[in-house]
Formats: sequence, C-alpha cells, structure tokens
Amino acid sequence: MDQTQLQKMDETVLDWLDDISHLVMKRVQQRMQIETKSSHRDLVTNVDREVEQYYVQHIRTFDPEAQILGEEGFGDAVKSTEGRIWYVDPIDGTMNFVKQQDEFATMVAVYEDGEPVMAWIMDITKHDVVHGGPDFGVFHNDEPLHAPTDTALKDGLIILSGARLLYEEKGFTELAKSALGYRVYGSAGISYLHVLTGKAVAYLSRMRPWDFAAGVALAKSLGLKVGTIDEHPLNMLVSGSVLVATEKTFDDIKLIQKEWT
Ligand code: IPD
Ligand code: CA
Ligand code: CA
Repeated sequence: MDQTQLQKMDETVLDWLDDISHLVMKRVQQRMQIETKSSHRDLVTNVDREVEQYYVQHIRTFDPEAQILGEEGFGDAVKSTEGRIWYVDPIDGTMNFVKQQDEFATMVAVYEDGEPVMAWIMDITKHDVVHGGPDFGVFHNDEPLHAPTDTALKDGLIILSGARLLYEEKGFTELAKSALGYRVYGSAGISYLHVLTGKAVAYLSRMRPWDFAAGVALAKSLGLKVGTIDEHPLNMLVSGSVLVATEKTFDDIKLIQKEWT
C-alpha cells in the first residue's frame, strides 16, 4: 500500500474511533446487558457486540475485499492469513469496562499475507490512541512516537496476565521476581499502550489473535522485540503466549526461560 492509501486508512479508522469513544461513553451511563462466555470471568456485553457490528459494517464499505476476524463473531470464519485481514477487538478488558468503567481499550489491526500493515489501540476513557504501521511510522495521538529506551528487565516494570500468575504458569513468577516490579491491568490493549509508550519494559500473556494483533503490529513498527514463550512460533490465527519487550528485556526473558524449560 502506498503512503496515500495508508494515510487514508489511518484517517478513516481514527474517525471510527471518535464515533466509538462517544458511543461507548454514552452506553456507560446506561444499563448494560452482561453475559458470560467460556467462564464466569469471561464477560461480554451488548456494547462489545454493538461496537464490533459498527466496525464490521464500516470495514465492509471501506475495504470490501478484506476478511474480518472479530472476537464476537460478526466477521468471517478466517481460515488462512492470505490476503488482507482486519483484526477487531471491540472492547478489550470487558471486565474493567463492566466493573470499573475505565482501563479498557478498543483495538484494530490490518495485516496482509500475515504481515502487519496498520494498527490502532485506543484507551477509550482517555481517548488516547497509539496508531501506525511499519511503512507509516507510529503516532501517539498526533505526535510521532519513537522506540522506548532499551531498558533491562531488572530496571523496569513487566506487565503480566493475572490469570497466568494466579495459576502459576511456568516462568511467570520467576519473571515477576526478576523485574523491578510487575503490574496486572486486565486489558491487553492498556498493557500494550504502556509498553509502546515506554512505561513498562514488557507485556506477556496467553492471548487470542484479536488480543495481540494490534500490539504486535505497533511493537514491530517501533522496533520492539516480539515473540512467543511457548514452543510455537507466532501464528496470526491461533492463541499464543505472546511477548512484546524492549530488546534487552526480551533477551533477559529468553535467558530466564532457558532455566525453566
Ligand atoms: C482479555 C483482556 C485480558 C487478557 C485476556 C483477554 P477481553 O480481553 O485483554 O487482559 O488477559 O487474555 O482475553 O476478553 O476483555 O477482550
Ligand atoms: Ca474483547
Ligand atoms: Ca481482548
């Protein structure tokens, strides 16, 4: 895609994000329908569904040839990474959305033949957006965003999945102990925003493609390191234990990982 097409795509999605932030902040004031999915901790609301439907409707008009992989199932049954795919996580951190009404995000990413093209992560209550791509540059709202300082694990905050810590998944406690500090935010999108803007040195969680597509795209575009800590390489169609980190922290984590595997 050339610069004009990327620019048009960025402006278009930023307009959608404006609409979505208004819509969601209005819905927060109203009574929500809350349901559970795979477990009592896996929530979905009418707002998650409404926002995904908004995305699907607008993507179909803007990019009719593309496939859509959305969490709530309004997109396509995507079977291959060939061609263009839009990854959509309408509300990321639904538990925070329901219980706190803050610290939740919306995420969109566009990949072509499995490679990132553009991505957007918005902290909805703050209307704070990190967006861009490898051939476009990365922006924090209107300002260019540069690679965070290359900080080691012992000198920084690592963001970890609370569930993985709680159930003592291999390596997670070691990593929490090796870092200067650890944090759990309950939203992949909010966690990625912290790593992308240099507030944390790494984020590690087991996630599904719509959870990590935008974070991985933006991290790669900024020159951060991306990989998995399980035996499988990153696959844009299946779940994985995805790590995004500064270069030094990534190497520190890989060294620690050698001791637990
Ligand atoms: C979840 C959140 C959570 C992460 C889970 C995700 P959802 O997304 O990002 O922090 O640990 O893996 O599923 O369900 O709120 O969109
Ligand atoms: Ca979600
Ligand atoms: Ca999510």
